[in-house]
Amino acid sequence: MVNDITNQINALKNQFKTTLKAVVTEHALENLRIEFLGRKGHIAALMKQLKTLTLEEKQAIGPLINELKQDIEKEYDLKKQMLLEKNMQQAALKQQNFDVTAYKPKPLQSSLHIYTHLIERLENIFIAMGYEITDGPEVETDYYNFEALNIPADHPARELHDTFWLHIPNMLLRTHTSTVQAHAMEANGPPLALFAPGRCYRNEATDASHDFMFMQAEGLVIDKDISMAHLLATAQNFLQEFFEKKDLNIRVRPGYFPFVEPGVEIDASCPFCTTGCSVCKKTGWIELLGAGLVHPNVLQCSGIDPEHYSGFAFGCGLERLAMIKHGIYDIRLFRSSKINVLKQF
Ligand code: DAH
Repeated sequence: MVNDITNQINALKNQFKTTLKAVVTEHALENLRIEFLGRKGHIAALMKQLKTLTLEEKQAIGPLINELKQDIEKEYDLKKQMLLEKNMQQAALKQQNFDVTAYKPKPLQSSLHIYTHLIERLENIFIAMGYEITDGPEVETDYYNFEALNIPADHPARELHDTFWLHIPNMLLRTHTSTVQAHAMEANGPPLALFAPGRCYRNEATDASHDFMFMQAEGLVIDKDISMAHLLATAQNFLQEFFEKKDLNIRVRPGYFPFVEPGVEIDASCPFCTTGCSVCKKTGWIELLGAGLVHPNVLQCSGIDPEHYSGFAFGCGLERLAMIKHGIYDIRLFRSSKINVLKQF
């Protein structure tokens, strides 16, 4: 019995030493401690056996078990300390050698805003037809926004333009791009053919198809003998190019705008269907342009003699064009910063 226990003690001593050598983590060390020193561990088992021995045997074996226990505890402590220091060193090293350049965030791919695409596209269509690209101020005077366009102070059409008036008398944010008409006629005189895209503002509640800031483009041609035929051919060619549909038709309805006479509204045949779809609201036609022959009062106001010159003008909402072409369902998306919308263009 005594020999047996002595053998066990020696075997455990060796077993602990070899296992301890292989331990490299605190977790493995803790498992080893439980295996030898725990309540149900090898040392506890030896103690149980000790109880069965005679007093002399106990006196001989007891100190051996104690010695084993102390050895194990000592070596355990040493190893624990060593692992702790190693871990700290490693952490320090990690910090010291942290390479800030090792992490390189993927650059976000940039793209042009839909407005930029749209305006470039429209400008190319009109440049190809011989037009000049113009613009005008967004902060305007009452004169250019209304007066010069045959909309005097008491004209009811003013009420259709929910105007942002500035605190400076007679100054406003332009409500349409038709303002460029008088500027261009004054500056250059006839003949002229211009296309002027730009921002406009209206003081109205926003919803999916209205915004307080939006884009329009104005077209104006003044020359001798300009007629409705020129306007209609131009409108059809423009819309065919824009929607990339050679067989696109136009339809003309009477419309009222104080600065043209006669005034018309021009619809395009739906580019997406022949029998009616959700885009054309099952009508087969889409309302796109306000237009007409420039009113003699407007020509006169800008110093052009209506006896010798005539012209046509048209205006369109750019968001509407893009919404129809690309299936955008809410005008407010144009000035939102939603990256998943923006990056599609
Ligand atoms: N300025 C008009 C608007 O904002 C659009 C328009 C209609 C422009 C007829 C024109 C035109 O040049 O002839 O609703």
